[in-house]
Amino acid sequence: MPQRRKKVTKQGSSTREDVMEPKEKTNLSENIQNIHHKILVMSNKGGVGKSTIAVNLALGLLHKGMGVGLLDVDVHGPSIPKMLGIEQMALVGDGKKIQPALYAFNLKVVSMGFLLKDNQSPVIWRGPLKMGAIKQFLEEVEWGELDFLIIDSPPGTGDEPLSIAQLIKDIDGVIIVTTPQEVALLDSRKAVNFARKLNVPVLGIVENMSGFTCPHCGKRTDLFKTGGGEKAAKEMKVPFLGKVPFDPQIVLSGDEGKPFIWEQKDSEVGKIFNQMIDQIVKILNSKEVSKVKGGD
Ligand SMILES: Nc1ncnc2c1ncn2[C@@H]1O[C@H](COP(=O)(O)OP(=O)(O)OP(=O)(O)O)[C@@H](O)[C@H]1O
Ligand SMILES: [Mg+2]
Ligand SMILES: [Zn+2]
Repeated sequence: MPQRRKKVTKQGSSTREDVMEPKEKTNLSENIQNIHHKILVMSNKGGVGKSTIAVNLALGLLHKGMGVGLLDVDVHGPSIPKMLGIEQMALVGDGKKIQPALYAFNLKVVSMGFLLKDNQSPVIWRGPLKMGAIKQFLEEVEWGELDFLIIDSPPGTGDEPLSIAQLIKDIDGVIIVTTPQEVALLDSRKAVNFARKLNVPVLGIVENMSGFTCPHCGKRTDLFKTGGGEKAAKEMKVPFLGKVPFDPQIVLSGDEGKPFIWEQKDSEVGKIFNQMIDQIVKILNSKEVSKVKGGD
């Protein structure tokens, strides 16, 4: 269990501060000041499992007794409400603050999906509008005191992760999700460089869909190659957070809105998620964050 409020020291973030008002406390930073750790989950490519990882990290942390917020800034294809099976929920506002949806007492969820009730039609967002929506989620949602805010982003290094990096000045870092193939190296490199350019620490790389665990006998087979994410982590000198195998149960859980870790925390994959969480907590509580931060 991590100690509360053990803040990781970070040096100035000049790149990010160039683009925003640095000095006085803004409404936004005040609104999220009681969230102890803020982590962005990102990837360079689509469909690698960001949302799956984000949801399972959030639930794993919840299991460990922590207060967690889950913010889905994928405004084009929000998938968090479906994965959690809470699509029917809504965000309630009282003119001043927005109340997040409560998955559990200690898990607050905010997603554009709650606002776009007709999920059949695509939403056309222009950059500034998207920025505005994300800013509002950080500034106006009543997050309260939380141990963790996990932020799920759409694929790539576009507006959404950029907004998050710019708006959350004391962000703890990013978790980069990738697949095991060799080509994933290139993708991870792009994502790591994106974070470095913005002076945001890279907490680590997760290699997802790494090997296939047979649902019948539990045996592991490497469908694609294995080790792409691990290699990337080594090459880029960032922590490697672990390999999550391809498990058909994860697909079912995601589709049925019954998150994996919730249902099967004692399975192989459940254990892997739990180890990953322990490692992330360890990294946050150590000085490693400042070590992995910035500088090529
Ligand atoms: N380890 C895994 N084993 C099996 N299926 C997985 C695994 N990880 C993710 N999936 C499945 O792969 C699909 C894509 O996952 P997910 O939506 O989490 O990816 P994403 O990176 O968030 O996608 P997007 O880029 O569209 O936001 C989902 O159907 C999900 O259930
Ligand atoms: Mg996603
Ligand atoms: Zn088998």
